[in-house]
Amino acid sequence: MTDQKAPSQNIKRYTITAALPYTNGPVHIGHLAGVYVPADIYARYLRLTDKDVLFVCGSDEHGVPITIRAKKEGVTPQEIVDKYHAIIKKSFEDFGITFDNYSRTSAKIHHETATEFFKKLYDDGKFIEETSAQLYDAEAKQFLADRFVIGTCPKCGNEESYGDQCENCGTSHNATDLINPKSAITGNKPSLKETKHWYLPLEQYEKWLREWIVEGHKSDWKTNVLGQVKSWLDDGLRPRAVTRDLDWGIPVPVKGGEGKVLYVWFDAPIGYISSTKEWAAQNGKDWEPYWKSNDTKLVHFIGKDNIVFHCIIFPAMLKAEGSYILPDNVPANEFLNLEGNKISTSKNWAVWLHEYLEDFPDKQDVLRYALTANAPETKDNDFTWKDFQARNNNELVAIFGNFINRVVVLTNKYYDGIVPKHYNFTEGDAQALEQLQQFPAVIGKSIERYRFREASQELMNLARLGNKYLADAEPWKLIKTDAARVETIMYVALQIAAGLAVLSEPFLPFTSQKLKKLLNVIPTEAQSADEESQKPVVQNDEIATSRLVGIRNDQSKCNVTSSAVERSWRSILENTELLNPGHQIGKPVLLFDKIEDADVQKQLDKLAATKKANKVENQIAVPQKEMVSFEDFTKLDIRIGTILEAEKVAKTKKLLKLKVDVGMDVRTIVSGIAESFSAADIIGKRVTVLVNLAPRNIKGIESQGMILMTDTSDGKLAFIEPENDDVVNGGQVS
Ligand code: MF3
Ligand code: ZN
Repeated sequence: MTDQKAPSQNIKRYTITAALPYTNGPVHIGHLAGVYVPADIYARYLRLTDKDVLFVCGSDEHGVPITIRAKKEGVTPQEIVDKYHAIIKKSFEDFGITFDNYSRTSAKIHHETATEFFKKLYDDGKFIEETSAQLYDAEAKQFLADRFVIGTCPKCGNEESYGDQCENCGTSHNATDLINPKSAITGNKPSLKETKHWYLPLEQYEKWLREWIVEGHKSDWKTNVLGQVKSWLDDGLRPRAVTRDLDWGIPVPVKGGEGKVLYVWFDAPIGYISSTKEWAAQNGKDWEPYWKSNDTKLVHFIGKDNIVFHCIIFPAMLKAEGSYILPDNVPANEFLNLEGNKISTSKNWAVWLHEYLEDFPDKQDVLRYALTANAPETKDNDFTWKDFQARNNNELVAIFGNFINRVVVLTNKYYDGIVPKHYNFTEGDAQALEQLQQFPAVIGKSIERYRFREASQELMNLARLGNKYLADAEPWKLIKTDAARVETIMYVALQIAAGLAVLSEPFLPFTSQKLKKLLNVIPTEAQSADEESQKPVVQNDEIATSRLVGIRNDQSKCNVTSSAVERSWRSILENTELLNPGHQIGKPVLLFDKIEDADVQKQLDKLAATKKANKVENQIAVPQKEMVSFEDFTKLDIRIGTILEAEKVAKTKKLLKLKVDVGMDVRTIVSGIAESFSAADIIGKRVTVLVNLAPRNIKGIESQGMILMTDTSDGKLAFIEPENDDVVNGGQVS
């Protein structure tokens, strides 16, 4: 916390935003680890502590990537955004991301909000209007902005930089800054053509940005974010065009703007505001305090490629507009790689959320946990399926699940599932309860500092504490000799189990729900169905006495019940009883199942297939050789043969000595194919042979011809075989 910050007790509400995903493809694990999982943990945590939270997102449906995708698929941009908006929205829901509203930038409210925002800045004279020469593709009849142009980044030399941003170094620039620009549409070298645009003079905000971020937030913003911001400011800011000559986007609403649209990075962040307005309208709320009140804490969750837009451009827009608050923090994450390679939508190198949910329909929490425990918070990290399996089997199953299972099994065995009462606490009991009591604060502190990895490990430490407590106390040994003591032990263990049910909710919401059901502290499905049909709820007395009663993390209900939930989060802190003696818990069910090698192998095979498909697609055909005359061609005598014998040529890596029946004779041929085939495997193979190649001496063996081969996509060799078995040896190829 910096000195300038309002102390946290003055914060009245939280506006949490998660980067609006582009609807040019589905959401993948990189997006989840970088943005949506941490944002959801943060929002769920704050709701559990009874804060007024608004968590918004929506689809980013403008911009060049969408038009490019539409061209590639041969459909309209509208069809693309409709398709991916639906996939993305559903997969977020199924994954348990608790947005209060998920909107889209094609929504009317968004068009209106962005238009109004632009007009206000225009009317207030905040823009520079300038006609200048811009890159133009005469063949495509199109100005080349953003991803329509590729060239060398002036900052880092990356030859594949886009017009507005270099993915290698993250620098944001103007398309005309690129060295050797090339049209992404035709590949042509662009020409220059005059066009008028509106610019936000970022240099005017440089001093203010430096004071606000570099000075004001030096101690509470992440180092990776501060580092990037500082480097841009040190390079000097320049006017930035906020309009484009494109036909997909929000029309420029001022005179002279005909045929032009707003730059996607101008309209998209305003999407956070329009999503808030949409939510407010649907829920009878006032949107303005969430964006205009000083006692609101605004936090943007993004990936590192979005830093410049959320820390420089959008704040400058908000500042220029004048009535908005600024983000309190922008906890951007680094990137997640997949099995050692950069995740890529266009190369299909990703684990897609909607596909994951199909393959692992009830394992949302496993992915949430694996991504959190290995989150790319301070550096790029690698997701591997082996690690995913290990996180599940060695932590969720072996630590968390094991503890809960022991507690539930023993409680059922000893007491028919009824929470026993406790007698005097030993030092060990008191210590365990005291440690339990500290967890909410420890976990909360990590979350508030955006250290979600650390927070998730603390949660696991609570399960470890439970296991250790039971292992030390050994109730299974004492049950025969000291039954009263065992009651106290199980009482303590049950409190830890209940603590896990509450504290796991932000990280493992599905598990938390399952565990609460298991501990019988939420209405059963039958009971909730009753509730929904408005029938009076007849509550079981024992349930009613539990302090966890009413805990639900049902998304739609979370606002209504957050105070009940909060009581339990706080009741741990206050050292009150979470599960009362006499309360009946449920029968044992496993919280997590082991993930088998075969499940992981299936995923690895899928990735291998992608890699292979990419190789095939990227294989560029070698240019055609020089022309030959028909006479020259007929000089070649090519025939079908059969390999009769094969053996490795001693002291060579590549060579096999073959005996080949080519119809008119059986001849010896030395062939460089040993790295693709073993001798034993090719006996009997049909092959194509150039039989009149002048004999050559190879490693002391006379080779009397050449087997014709081609390459496979994974760099091996393949024979050219006759398709039909009726072709006899000696058959000519012509
Ligand atoms: N669509 C952008 C991306 O996927 C993120 C937009 S964030 C917003 O990188 F602020 F513009 F909404
Ligand atoms: Zn660069």
